[in-house]
Order: sequence, then structure tokens, then C-alpha cells
Amino acid sequence: MAKLKTAVLISGRGSNLQALIDYCQSENSGAQISLVISNVMGAAGIERAAEAGIVSKVIEHNSFPNRDSFESALTETLDSFGIEFICLAGFMRILTDAFVKRWHNKIINIHPSLLPSFKGLKTHERALKKGVKFTGCTVHFVREEMDTGPIIIQAAVPILSDDNAESLENRVLLAEHRCYPLALSLIAENRVAIINEKVSIPKSKAPGVFFLNPIE
Ligand code: GAR
Repeated sequence: MAKLKTAVLISGRGSNLQALIDYCQSENSGAQISLVISNVMGAAGIERAAEAGIVSKVIEHNSFPNRDSFESALTETLDSFGIEFICLAGFMRILTDAFVKRWHNKIINIHPSLLPSFKGLKTHERALKKGVKFTGCTVHFVREEMDTGPIIIQAAVPILSDDNAESLENRVLLAEHRCYPLALSLIAENRVAIINEKVSIPKSKAPGVFFLNPIE
């Protein structure tokens, strides 16, 4: 079966891009990464794409007069590569309603919190400040409103008493790197349905227990 032609949009380090590359390199993957786009020149993720032999394009948002013209350039490039699906992986630009509509149910994002908690930036600092005992990550379909949309997969990550934003980020990233490839694989295998704006994944398994934090 033909693999889902996927583009990954990044702005920086690209560790989630790497997790997606690793998944797509496995023989049985249902998706292939055909293109990486960075809106930031010199983003470390571009190097990861090159190492994997994937074409990357830099489309710098600040070389365009407005959001619409930036996104027209994105769309033109995506179309010229025959892209069918987009993964946002640390892509730090807000997309317009028109762009999101054009890619309805064909664009997903990873966010470093258990949505709908802690939308936006500095998620780990805010989770620590609130004193929540679990945080995590979410992979979701993108909708017009930022950090909303049907949730595909989440992972809960405990917050330890001596955590700082960096240690927490590192622990959440481990979860992100498992969740994002899993979400893309479920979609590429046509196992994900959206019913009334909720994701249903028939025959998927979930842990049937609860977790405590702290334990004693
Ligand atoms: C990841 O933690 C991702 O969840 C987050 O940016 C980081 C990118 O890291 N995304 C957002 O905050 C989007 N609102 P990476 O470049 O190493 O994948």
C-alpha cells in the first residue's frame, strides 16, 4: 500500500521530527516523510532531515509581509511535493483559519501538556507553579483555535518534588517521542476515526488502572 506522504513543520531542535523519522524508516511504517519545512533558518532539525536524506525547505516567516503570504508559500511548497498530511513538531507559528481549514483532519500537532490544561507556551513552568502532580503531552488534530482539536493520544508524566522546568521538559519529551510516532502510525493505518469531534480508535488498548503521585 502507498505510504502517506507526510510533511513535518519545525522551528527548532527537531527531536520529535527525529522520532517521526525513526518510525518512518521502519519497513512497515504506513507513512513516509517527504518534506521538512522550517520557518527558522539554521534550525537543528534541518540537519536531522539531511542526515536521513529527506528534503528540507526553509521558509522564513519574517521574509513575508504578512501571515497570508507566508502561508501561500507554505501551501505552494506542500502542494509541489504532493503532500497529503502534515505533522507540526515544535512549529512555533500560529496558522490562520484558512490554512487550518485547507488541511482539515490532515494536520496534527504535539503539545507538551495534558490538553486542555496549559495551552500555549511555558507549559512546564506553569504546571510546576500550579503544583499539579501529573502533566504530559498530547497529540491532536489541529483546529482553528490554538491547541484545540480532537485528541488522538496522551501520555501522563509524573511531576517529581525536585523537578525544575528543564528536568520536567526532558521527562515529557521521552513521552512525546513515543506518542507522536504512535499517533502518525494509527492515522497512516486508517485506524483513527473522528466522530462528533472526538477520536475513536477501535481495538486500541489503554491501561486499565489508575496511577498515584506521590505513592507514599
Ligand atoms: C516539543 O516539546 C513540542 O511539544 C513543543 O515544542 C517542543 C519542540 O521540541 N511544541 C509546542 O510547544 C507547540 N505549542 P522538538 O523541536 O525537539 O521536537
